[in-house]
Amino acid sequence: MKKCVLVTGGAGYIGSHTTVELIGAGYDVIVVDDLSNSDASAVSNVEKITGTRIPFYRFDCNDTDKMRDLFDRHRVDAVIHFAAFKAVGESVEMPLKYYRNNLGSLTSVLTAMDEKGVPSIVFSSSATVYGQPDTLPATERTPLQKAGSPYGATKQMSEDIISSVACAPNAKIKAIALRYFNPIGAHPSALIGELPKGVPNNLVPFITQTAAGVRECLSVFGDDYDTPDGSALRDYIDVVDLAKAHVAAISRLVEGRGKAPFEYFNVGTGKPLSVLELIHAFEKVNGVRVNHKITGRRAGDIEKIWASTELAEKELGWHAERTIEQTLASAWAWEKHVRGIK
Ligand code: NAD
Ligand code: WQD
Repeated sequence: MKKCVLVTGGAGYIGSHTTVELIGAGYDVIVVDDLSNSDASAVSNVEKITGTRIPFYRFDCNDTDKMRDLFDRHRVDAVIHFAAFKAVGESVEMPLKYYRNNLGSLTSVLTAMDEKGVPSIVFSSSATVYGQPDTLPATERTPLQKAGSPYGATKQMSEDIISSVACAPNAKIKAIALRYFNPIGAHPSALIGELPKGVPNNLVPFITQTAAGVRECLSVFGDDYDTPDGSALRDYIDVVDLAKAHVAAISRLVEGRGKAPFEYFNVGTGKPLSVLELIHAFEKVNGVRVNHKITGRRAGDIEKIWASTELAEKELGWHAERTIEQTLASAWAWEKHVRGIK
C-alpha cells in the first residue's frame, strides 16, 4: 500500500516542489496550509504537474484540534513540516510573531502526531543555525553559533524540541532535520516557484524582478569581504534537488533505515558562489542584463558559508544534480511566467 505524507506549508515555495517529487516517487500527499504566505493556486498547479488530486486543508497548524481531526480522517505515515515564517528582517522587528508561529506550529504538530501514533517527521531547518562557521565547509559537526536573528533562534530551538521528543524514553516519533543552504530556482514547468510578497529580501527573486523591470536596480551588499571578488559566498541549492532530498529523508524514515531517533543533514551543493558570480551567470544563461550597483554590507550578513555534502550523500544517497545554469534558467522562466513576459 502507498505511504501517505502530510506536507504542512505545502502551498509554499519548497513545500509545493516537494509535493511534486513525493507524488513522483509514489507517495500519497495531503497538504495543510493557512495560505499566510502563499496562494491556493500553487496546490492546483501541483495537481496539473502531477495529474493527481491532492487533499488540501486550509488551517493554521497551531490548531492542534484540527491536526488531530486530520489524523483521525487520514492514515498518515509521516509529516514534512515546512509551515513557518521565514523573513529574517521581519523576525528582528516582530520576534513574537516568529516564536509563536514557528515554535507553536511545530509543538502542535508533534503533539497531534504523538497522540495519534504518526511515527515520522522531516523538519525544515536552515544553514542559518551555523552562523559564520570558523571552518568551511560547514559539516554537521560544525559547532552552532548564537543565532543571528529570532528566525534563526526558532530553527535552533525547533531542532532542540524535536531532538528531546525523539530521544525521550519510550519515544514514538523519529525525526530528520534538513539544514537547507540557499534554495533557489523553480520547477522546470514554470508552473510553481517562489512568490515573494512585496520587495524580495533574497538575492535571486531580486535579480529576476530587476531583469523583469519590476525593480530598477539590484544592490550588491558589499564587495569588501575576504573572498576572491569581494562579494559574499553562499551555497545555492536548486529547489527541485532540495525537494528530492526530502523524498530521500522520508524514505529513510518510513523504511526504518535511520541510525538514530533524531538525525540532521546539510542540504547544499558543496560549491560556493559569490553574489557577483551569480549575477553574471544569470545574465549569461538568460541573455538579459541585471542592472546592479555595489552598496554597503547588509547588517547581520555573514561573509561566507557552504555545505559539506558528504553525510547527505553517504546516509541519504542524495546529492544535488542540477547545474547553476539550469537553476537560473528556471528562475527566469518562472519570473517571466508570473509577469506574463514572452
Ligand atoms: P514559504 O513561506 O513559501 O512556505 C511556508 C508555507 O507555510 C506558506 O505557504 C505559508 O502560508 C505556510 N504557513 C506558515 N505558517 C503556517 C501555519 N502556522 N499553519 C499553516 N501554514 C502555515 O517558505 P519556504 O521558502 O517554502 O520555506 C519552507 C520552510 O523552509 C520554512 O520552515 C522555512 O523556514 C524553511 N527554510 C527556507 C529557506 C529559504 O530560503 N526559502 C531556507 C532554509 C529553511
Ligand atoms: C544571499 C547573498 C546577500 C539580496 C537567507 C536567510 C537564511 C536562509 C536563506 C531561511 C548575501 C546578497 C541579497 C540583495 C545582495 N533562509 N544579497 N543583494 O542572507 O544567505 O540567507 O535566506 O532559513 O536563513 O538568512 O540569503 O538570498 O538574502 O542573500 O547582495 O538584494 O546575496 O548579502 O550575501 P542569505 P539572501
